[in-house]
Amino acid sequence: MKYSKLFLLLFVTQFYAQQGGMWLPNMLKGDRETEMKNLGMKLTAEQIYSVNKSSLKDAVPQFDGGCTAEVISDKGLILTNHHCGYDNIQSHSTIEHDYLTNGFWAYKLEEELPNPGVVVTFIVKIEDITSKVLENTTSLTTEADKQKKIQENISNLTKSLPKETWQENLIKTFYDGNQYILFVTETYKDIRLVGAPPSSIGKFGSDTDNWVWPRHTGDFSLFRIYADKNNRPAEYSTENVPYKPKHFFPISIKGIKENDFTMVMGYPGRTQEYLPSFAVEQIVNNLNPAKIEVRDAALKAQDRFMRKDNAIKIQYASKYAAVANYWKKWIGETKGLKKSNAIAFKQKFEKELTEKINKAGKQSEYGNLLSDFEKNYAEIKDYALARDLFSEVVLRNTELLQTGYKLYQLEQLLANKGEQAFTDRKNNLAKGIDAFYKDYNNEVDKNVFEQLIAIYANRMPKQFLPSTLNNLNANELTNDIYTNSSLTSLEKFRALLDGDTNTVINKINNDKGYQLVKSLADAYVKNIAPKYDELNLKNIATQRTYMKAIMELSPKSARIFPDANSTLRVTYGKVKGYKPADAIYYEPFSTLDGVMEKYIPGDYEFDVPQKLIDLYNAKDFGMYANSKGKMPVAFIATNHTTGGNSGSPALDASGNLIGLNFDRVWEGTMSDIYYSPEICRNIMVDLRYVLFIIDKYAGAKNIINELKIIKKEKK
Ligand code: ARG
Ligand code: GLU
Repeated sequence: MKYSKLFLLLFVTQFYAQQGGMWLPNMLKGDRETEMKNLGMKLTAEQIYSVNKSSLKDAVPQFDGGCTAEVISDKGLILTNHHCGYDNIQSHSTIEHDYLTNGFWAYKLEEELPNPGVVVTFIVKIEDITSKVLENTTSLTTEADKQKKIQENISNLTKSLPKETWQENLIKTFYDGNQYILFVTETYKDIRLVGAPPSSIGKFGSDTDNWVWPRHTGDFSLFRIYADKNNRPAEYSTENVPYKPKHFFPISIKGIKENDFTMVMGYPGRTQEYLPSFAVEQIVNNLNPAKIEVRDAALKAQDRFMRKDNAIKIQYASKYAAVANYWKKWIGETKGLKKSNAIAFKQKFEKELTEKINKAGKQSEYGNLLSDFEKNYAEIKDYALARDLFSEVVLRNTELLQTGYKLYQLEQLLANKGEQAFTDRKNNLAKGIDAFYKDYNNEVDKNVFEQLIAIYANRMPKQFLPSTLNNLNANELTNDIYTNSSLTSLEKFRALLDGDTNTVINKINNDKGYQLVKSLADAYVKNIAPKYDELNLKNIATQRTYMKAIMELSPKSARIFPDANSTLRVTYGKVKGYKPADAIYYEPFSTLDGVMEKYIPGDYEFDVPQKLIDLYNAKDFGMYANSKGKMPVAFIATNHTTGGNSGSPALDASGNLIGLNFDRVWEGTMSDIYYSPEICRNIMVDLRYVLFIIDKYAGAKNIINELKIIKKEKK
């Protein structure tokens, strides 16, 4: 009896301990804190988030809207990913100073480079204000009226809730509209580049290794926050001084073992963990396959040219990487959802929920949820596919159609806002379009178009296909458009916009490329979008009630975490390897040995800088080597992360920095929809590798001296 109880307890803690979840830092007290302590954490919830005292959250800002960063010195030094700082590193690069290729290091404050427009946002306070947001909404009967009132309340509260003049109020919804939370934030605007390794370290492995473990990328860059003399946010000024943080992370180089506790704090962007089976079924069988097919064709066509021609490679490298990132993710996600039987799991969950609804006598409130979902998702199916095809083919992956769509919006503007708005936009468009054509190659895009338009005609539900694409001869249409359309070059495009309003409207409407875009866009705007929006609004309302039912009818101990929404979260787990397939086991640590194993001299993805090879051969790893004398590079753990967690701090049991999050393993990318502790892992750069590169590779002792480094105790 005693033993079985003990085993049950062990089983329950093990089971729950590895279930993922991304939690608000102000809601850790209680079950989460207990669970974290059971996993080995030595901190209290109050040390992670406190309203009154400095706490870990004070060292974790959002970086420029899309990534996360962490403060690592008392002089406002922050660490984030190389791929998060990429655009800034690029914008400072010239032929003479190619920081992307060679890296950049500031050896004194005066050498740091300002980045106009880049911001870093801290959270000051988090507060549940649900009842205030929902005030005077219960009496409203229609969904549209309710949402309108809620939006009105949010906008009033954002203005009226107390805050300091240099702060902002931000209100976000949680649990699909069942909870509203206020974040008081501070946004710093003078952010300077301090250091970045060469791309052959910071982007090592590039697209081939993206979303893949084992990984060997030193994906980091360093910036510094500057503040005014009162330590408050200020626009860039030479008078500004390094920011004094409320908290910064000490860095531990003591070493990490499998099963060690880790937690990651950061700003995950979007997850959909509570979708019903009907929605997941559509993602797996319809939407992901269509999006993957489109991108597959686009990427293959571009790649053929990029491999032959270096100028084209430079033009397309960044666009290719952006498209390839989610293409690869969707492939992994689809496979993972199938392999883990996510749909069957959801169906079982729905069956159990239905039983709970019946048992609780809540049929009148919740009895129709699943049949509503079933009906709605069946109805939205074709519209959702049509919408994804339109956005992938027209708005995202064919450059000529993308540009044509800008003219479509221009013509709409004339109809809706009048001639002045039209002329202003037209002039801006003519002026700003050169950046687009600088990286445009007509031959490449022509090849992309020919394939994508065929997929469009083939995949698009017939009722949404404009007559221009009936009986499509893709080759003929492609030749016609890419020979005759003015959308194919900067000069012709500018000439198209030259003249008075009538002339321009006539000219564009006589253009073959524009005519096609207009027929596709008209079909989308008239036949697809309105019905999609209507059905989607229904799904949103049903999802809110569904979420409410789940929360109400689950046991108190259930781990119901809110979906990611770009707000500050804490996720925790253990350092752990995994088994992606039969007979394969992946260890959780990678080392510099693996960099050398992957090394391909001169290759754009797998080249290694000579200095790093020399350090490797000399085993000159200083105090950063692991206990076996090897140089650690990256490691994985069971933390539940998503896009937006790039640059997030990975902390040890005492809140010291040990890793820098930058990716997930391919077999586990389904965790945005269905988290499985078996194979979902986040990937982090080991901080020992970061310090080794700064210290030994770059010789930036000035940076090392700023840090608080926790070393191994000498025996
Ligand atoms: N997969 C990582 C994250 O979404 C890294 C992306 C950047 N790296 C790349 N090779 N494209 O988003
Ligand atoms: N690389 C991702 C980012 O840029 C994080 C990886 C993920 O999606 O988990 O945010």
